[in-house]
Amino acid sequence: MVYRRNPIPISQLLVVLALVMMLNIDLALCGPFRNDLQRVKPAAFYNDCSKRYLRIRGKEVTADADEKHKLYMITLTDSHGFLLFDPTANTFFCWKKAKKNVQLKLTARRNPKDLSMCTFEELPVNGASTKYVSMKNKSQMMLFRANGSQLLTRRGMTKRRCQPESFIQDKNHFNETAYESKDEFCRRMKRIKHKHKMADEIKNLCGITTPVQMRKRRM
Ligand SMILES: *[C@@H]1O[C@H](CO)[C@@H](O)[C@H](O)[C@H]1NC(C)=O
Ligand SMILES: *[C@@H]1O[C@H](CO)[C@@H](O)[C@H](O)[C@H]1NC(C)=O
Ligand SMILES: *[C@@H]1O[C@H](CO)[C@@H](O)[C@H](O)[C@H]1NC(C)=O
Repeated sequence: MVYRRNPIPISQLLVVLALVMMLNIDLALCGPFRNDLQRVKPAAFYNDCSKRYLRIRGKEVTADADEKHKLYMITLTDSHGFLLFDPTANTFFCWKKAKKNVQLKLTARRNPKDLSMCTFEELPVNGASTKYVSMKNKSQMMLFRANGSQLLTRRGMTKRRCQPESFIQDKNHFNETAYESKDEFCRRMKRIKHKHKMADEIKNLCGITTPVQMRKRRM
């Protein structure tokens, strides 16, 4: 017969589990990662020139004539910056170099590793309108043509009747709570494959841990 040790009593297991959990919380607080993302809130963005709402369709950043389209603003701690996420397309709005151009173009990204290319800031245009610029280069702004396609530069646009950079943000249309918004956003993040490539800020916001992160924490 094979010798078998007595199973560990449940009460002892619970004590060990509690200790492990305490240790984990401790490591999370003192670890190298800061919770850089703070809050998820819904909003729609109406563009003056196209008379349409900002969204991602397929891989294209566009302005769409459809009804008010919900996006999530994920605000950054200690700054006016935020990320923009389309929960229908499941992608972030990020800047990338347009071919043969100094200007950047907005594109859809599922799992951006470097969030600095996906951070925006809101600046006043006039009255109730605002413009959305890259936090990295504030003269780089989000622009749309009357037909709802992206415009790379405002040059030569002065005679237009509409303002391609001008947006009106509508927050009141959506009445989900901050908890519900974060929950919906994080549910989508948890479904992303290759989580090891995910930006640490998103992992921290949504409480996603990966083996790589665990190893780093123990160092
Ligand atoms: C910032 O953006 C503007 C407008 O697209 C561009 O002309 C300029 O070269 C950019 N500056 C840097 C440092 O990339
Ligand atoms: C919008 O207009 C631009 C330039 O006039 C054109 O290149 C583009 O294909 C148009 N987009 C759509 C969706 O019609
Ligand atoms: C907002 O909430 C109210 C009451 O909770 C509900 O009746 C209404 O349908 C909601 N509106 C939207 C746009 O979801």
